[in-house]
Amino acid sequence: MTLICVASPKGGVGKTTLTANLAYTLQRQGYNVTVIDLDSQDALKLHFGIAFSDPQGYVSEATSKFYWHEMVRTTSSGIDVLAYGHTTREERQRFENFLANDPKALYQALRSFYGSSDDILLADLPPGHSVALDALCKLKPLCVTALLSDSASLAVLPSIEEGDFYPEDVSRHLYYVVNQLDLRSELSRDVYSLLKERLGASLLGSVHRDPAVSEAHALQISVLQHAYTSAVVNDLEMIAHNLMRLMPDAVLVQIRQAGE
Ligand SMILES: Nc1ncnc2c1ncn2[C@@H]1O[C@H](COP(=O)(O)OP(=O)(O)OP(=O)(O)O)[C@@H](O)[C@H]1O
Ligand SMILES: [Mg+2]
Repeated sequence: MTLICVASPKGGVGKTTLTANLAYTLQRQGYNVTVIDLDSQDALKLHFGIAFSDPQGYVSEATSKFYWHEMVRTTSSGIDVLAYGHTTREERQRFENFLANDPKALYQALRSFYGSSDDILLADLPPGHSVALDALCKLKPLCVTALLSDSASLAVLPSIEEGDFYPEDVSRHLYYVVNQLDLRSELSRDVYSLLKERLGASLLGSVHRDPAVSEAHALQISVLQHAYTSAVVNDLEMIAHNLMRLMPDAVLVQIRQAGE
């Protein structure tokens, strides 16, 4: 299994949307994808047809279950979802204490997802520093940092590069995606050029700004279904392919089947 964290020092840059859209894109490449929401906003589930009013989630039970696999919800998309769920302050505190104090238990809880090399666990993190990010980083995930093509993202880049955002030991697995690239804006193009030069191979790609992304969310379908011809779909495929190259032992289901 490959664990991929989608995080950013900045809020509202599209982490949750990117997590969901990458899940759909990687699933189409033949992977078994599970998404896990580590953000108490509980918004990731909305991308998978689960209503906001649906209170069910894994966090309230997380500290009492040995394997979190048991709390997965299979959605009509075929993607398995660990929704955060509606929680009380006490439940969130208990969960954070668990994450902060028991890295072995977190590993155990996620171990049940370590089935085959075709399994991907994609984690959506809250904005900024979080107990969840520090805890997951101990498991050596691929860290995908979402940025925008703007001056605010440029401003936070040094803190990421200097190891102030992620725990230091993720530097070998640190990657970036630029979201909401707007080619009509000179500023967006200029900042993107700067980011490309500065980030080099750690930049996995960019996703164009396209209203189809928000429309797909409103329609409760994936952007792949809603706007198949959008540049966003190509962008996501490019990022997914770059991620796939980073999963050393991940073998495409199709390739394996072709060889059988
Ligand atoms: N490529 C895109 N084109 C157009 N709109 C986008 C794109 N990506 C994300 N959005 C929109 O940007 C808004 C913020 O997205 P999202 O909620 O995924 O951000 P986030 O980083 O998860 O936010 P938070 O920090 O609150 O968790 C949403 O309205 C979403 O539809
Ligand atoms: Mg989010």
